[in-house]
Amino acid sequence: MAKTSALLLVSAMLAVLAPVNGLWPQPRNLTTGSSALKLSGGFEISIASSLYNAPQDLQQAISRSHGFLQTDKLERLVVGRGDVDKPALTKAKTLSQLTVSLDKGATVQSITAEAQKPIEERDEGYVLDVPADGSGATLTANSTLGLFRGLTTFGQLWYQSDSTTYTIEAPIHIVDSPAYPYRGYMLDTARNYFPVTDIKRAIDGMSWVKINQFHWHVVDSQSFPLEVPGFEELAQKGAYASSMVYTAQDVQDIVEYAGARGIDVLVEIDTPGHTSAISKSHPEHIACAESTPWASFANEPPAGQLRLASNATAEFTANLLVAVSKLFPSSMIKTQASLNATGLNFTQALTAFTQQSHNALIKAGKTPVVWEEMILSFNVTLAPEVIALVWISSDDVKGVAESGHKLIHAASDYFYLDCGGGGWVGANPDGNSWCDPFKTWQYSYSFDPVANLTADEAKLVLGGQHLLWTEQTGPSNLDPITWPRAASSAELFWTGPGLNISTVLPRLHDLSFRFQQRGIQTIPLQPLWCALRPGVCDLTA
Ligand SMILES: *[C@@H]1O[C@H](CO)[C@@H](O)[C@H](O)[C@H]1NC(C)=O
Ligand SMILES: *[C@@H]1O[C@H](CO)[C@@H](O)[C@H](O)[C@H]1NC(C)=O
Ligand SMILES: *[C@@H]1O[C@H](CO)[C@@H](O)[C@H](O)[C@H]1NC(C)=O
Ligand SMILES: *[C@@H]1O[C@H](CO)[C@@H](O)[C@H](O)[C@H]1NC(C)=O
Ligand SMILES: *[C@@H]1O[C@H](CO)[C@@H](O)[C@H](O)[C@H]1NC(C)=O
Ligand SMILES: *[C@@H]1O[C@H](CO)[C@@H](O)[C@H](O)[C@H]1NC(C)=O
Ligand SMILES: *[C@@H]1O[C@H](CO)[C@@H](O)[C@H](O)[C@H]1NC(C)=O
Ligand SMILES: *[C@@H]1O[C@H](CO)[C@@H](O)[C@H](O)[C@H]1NC(C)=O
Repeated sequence: MAKTSALLLVSAMLAVLAPVNGLWPQPRNLTTGSSALKLSGGFEISIASSLYNAPQDLQQAISRSHGFLQTDKLERLVVGRGDVDKPALTKAKTLSQLTVSLDKGATVQSITAEAQKPIEERDEGYVLDVPADGSGATLTANSTLGLFRGLTTFGQLWYQSDSTTYTIEAPIHIVDSPAYPYRGYMLDTARNYFPVTDIKRAIDGMSWVKINQFHWHVVDSQSFPLEVPGFEELAQKGAYASSMVYTAQDVQDIVEYAGARGIDVLVEIDTPGHTSAISKSHPEHIACAESTPWASFANEPPAGQLRLASNATAEFTANLLVAVSKLFPSSMIKTQASLNATGLNFTQALTAFTQQSHNALIKAGKTPVVWEEMILSFNVTLAPEVIALVWISSDDVKGVAESGHKLIHAASDYFYLDCGGGGWVGANPDGNSWCDPFKTWQYSYSFDPVANLTADEAKLVLGGQHLLWTEQTGPSNLDPITWPRAASSAELFWTGPGLNISTVLPRLHDLSFRFQQRGIQTIPLQPLWCALRPGVCDLTA
């Protein structure tokens, strides 16, 4: 008896000193106890009989979750690692089952179908209960997407010590749902090409932190790797190589892979700027293609943009965007990129151009998403449903909100992953990245999504995302430049702002090591010495 209380006391002390759970993002409502609980050797995740018609992607998600329980083998981040918990585990109860079910009245749809719903109609909430006495754990939700989020959480509850998989925090009760509906990650596959396997690995990482939107910046000035039905010549002539093309089959593969992991794909076709690659197949539509010196025409080489004033070009663009939108089931499509006025009567031309392409997309059932300049710099008249991505600076959020458009946070001063890498333009040894410095996870995490906004303006905020422009990134450094930093916005927009960075860090270490166990090469955030001693390396510790 005395010995048991001593053990309890030890684990209670550890609970205060150490990160005893590796949940990321932090659930919005979490209660934990301090009992140890082991998974039985034959642990099963079963689908309730009421869900007899469980969609295939849910069944596959369950089997992946089960697999991770066996392969994560993550030792707790404390001095002594998994050995520390051995005494507590000798008397621990054993959990042999998690039962997954939908609430009464919920309609059964695939995770994919739920994930591809319009952004504000997705139901990602779930309730997870893990009793301490060994009786069955339960996961319930109103949608398969909610069940998927709950399975992701369940997979993060466990540690390994020798061959035992366990938690020391039972009982666990979680009621969770996201603070913001949009939590994204943008990848540019035009500056450098990424094979489908790399994109899928990025999608895996996104799904583990409950990111629900993959913003695929698929083409740009440098290359046009997307095969578009009816416009095949664009990739044939505009891709870096015939081996560096995303075929329609690849796109379907990526969209399905993402959908099954609770992620919708928002495709972006840059227009009217950033279109030099189109000149390879359609020189008639591009002005100043590869003109030099490039710096007189564009922010980076090569120069070239769509001929705004040409009716034929506007029509070509509208048709292209509609053809692209048919490849992607998402309700959204991203159209405009940064572009720079060249002096002609630009607003007029751009307004006509934008209205033609947006009208075509809206008619095709899509919501256009634009970069902020369309609102702040060019005073283009946009349909009210158009969503704006704020990228130049967080200082611009207020102005975009004042326009009344819904907005997504993507400000370079908080969320650009490529900043701080030095200059890449050649013959320029003193060059630097334009958005210095490197954005640390904690800097991104400190962002306030509603700073300076009125209560009504705050309602326009859909969420936010990290972004990776790939001038200096390829498959070889995709993982380390992205992870675990991109997880910081994933938690900020799921859990909401205001958590204490000091107490958050141990969980992020844990997540980062779990990513490594699952094959994603994250960067260390600190020396391991610090990771094992929460708080000890804080600035004022
Ligand atoms: C969390 O639970 C508490 C107590 O049960 C409740 O008052 C609160 O509204 C819940 N918060 C959320 C975000 O569900
Ligand atoms: C399902 O929806 C009902 C009605 O809105 C709600 O009361 C319940 O909490 C939801 N269940 C979950 C698990 O989110
Ligand atoms: C372009 O379209 C506008 C409006 O549809 C029309 O008035 C104009 O004549 C067209 N110009 C050319 C060169 O076809
Ligand atoms: C547009 O071009 C001008 C002149 O080249 C430059 O000063 C300005 O920063 C550019 N604006 C943007 C948004 O790129
Ligand atoms: C563009 O043309 C319109 C219509 O002729 C005119 O009202 C507007 O002032 C012009 N804008 C610029 C920047 O010259
Ligand atoms: C933007 O355009 C509207 C009309 O289309 C006009 O009323 C307004 O003054 C313009 N704003 C700026 C800053 O040019
Ligand atoms: C909020 O407003 C203050 C004062 O105008 C300004 O210094 C700050 O940069 C603004 N913050 C954001 C995120 O817009
Ligand atoms: C954050 O947590 C640390 C460690 O518990 C504590 O020392 C610090 O005062 C907290 N900071 C704030 C702003 O609450």
